[in-house]
Amino acid sequence: MTYREDGESQAASWLAPGLRGAIVPVTGAASGIGLAICKRLREAGATPLLLDFDERHLAAAAREVYASEGVAPDFAYLLDVTDSKAVDACLERIKREHGPVTHAVANAGISHAAHVLELQDDDWRRVIDVNLNGVLYFCRAVARQLAAAKAGSIVTLASIAGMCARERRAAYASSKAAVINLTRALAIDLGEYGVRVNGVAPGIIQTPIQQMSEEALNQRVQGRAPLARAGRPAEVADVVLFLLSDMASYVTGETIVVDGGVTAKYM
Ligand code: NAI
Repeated sequence: MTYREDGESQAASWLAPGLRGAIVPVTGAASGIGLAICKRLREAGATPLLLDFDERHLAAAAREVYASEGVAPDFAYLLDVTDSKAVDACLERIKREHGPVTHAVANAGISHAAHVLELQDDDWRRVIDVNLNGVLYFCRAVARQLAAAKAGSIVTLASIAGMCARERRAAYASSKAAVINLTRALAIDLGEYGVRVNGVAPGIIQTPIQQMSEEALNQRVQGRAPLARAGRPAEVADVVLFLLSDMASYVTGETIVVDGGVTAKYM
């Protein structure tokens, strides 16, 4: 089965309801899935704001998203999501510079692999800090603006590792399971403000986090995914856009799996 190239968006036009003119900060936007989400958002007429702590890749990513418009620096924010005060300050700055946020994507995350007998305290804390604490800090800061507007939609990036574990993934799998339940908890608290919060749980997607060539990754997925290939960042981005948009107006607290069918199999 094939899929269109990242640049050939058919989805953005039909997924667009409610996203035209939207101000949408996306964390971890300098690479992989976050960058793909920003590109799709731009195609849908939204204003994606790229937040990342990787300065060099952030600038290049912003240029890529706003390629034809030549104003990239206005849309890139250097931010470490594990610094709660910096996250609050960044969201206040965004409000001053672009107006209130209307939608947001908590995408920044790191991977980690270690057998539990060798798992170091520092590595455990770092994974929880980025993948869980960072999601809370960002969603909370965003939610203050959305609750005041009594509208909006947030999407978090979980993982199929948050639904079932695998070898050498104690920290990563725990952090992503927590993201799925945090997403539910946020949806419950924010429902009365008309704010929706949902998650996307990708399977094996071809991005730098995998540290593997496309060929090697596809080989690993053969036999595990019914679709027999790794996913592309744009295929995750399309589901994120659906959840952000008014197409999902009665969906909240949900996490949608995007994994080519990996978790449909038990053997
Ligand atoms: P990636 O490594 O390509 O991009 C992650 C981005 O997050 C990078 O630009 C990095 O600089 C940024 N980042 C990391 N720590 C940060 C921090 N403290 N503050 C700000 N930015 C930070 O990874 P990818 O694949 O695009 O992952 C995006 C999300 O999707 C992550 O949450 C990941 O766990 C999740 N995911 C990815 C899968 C995959 O197969 N690629 C599978 C399941 C989930």
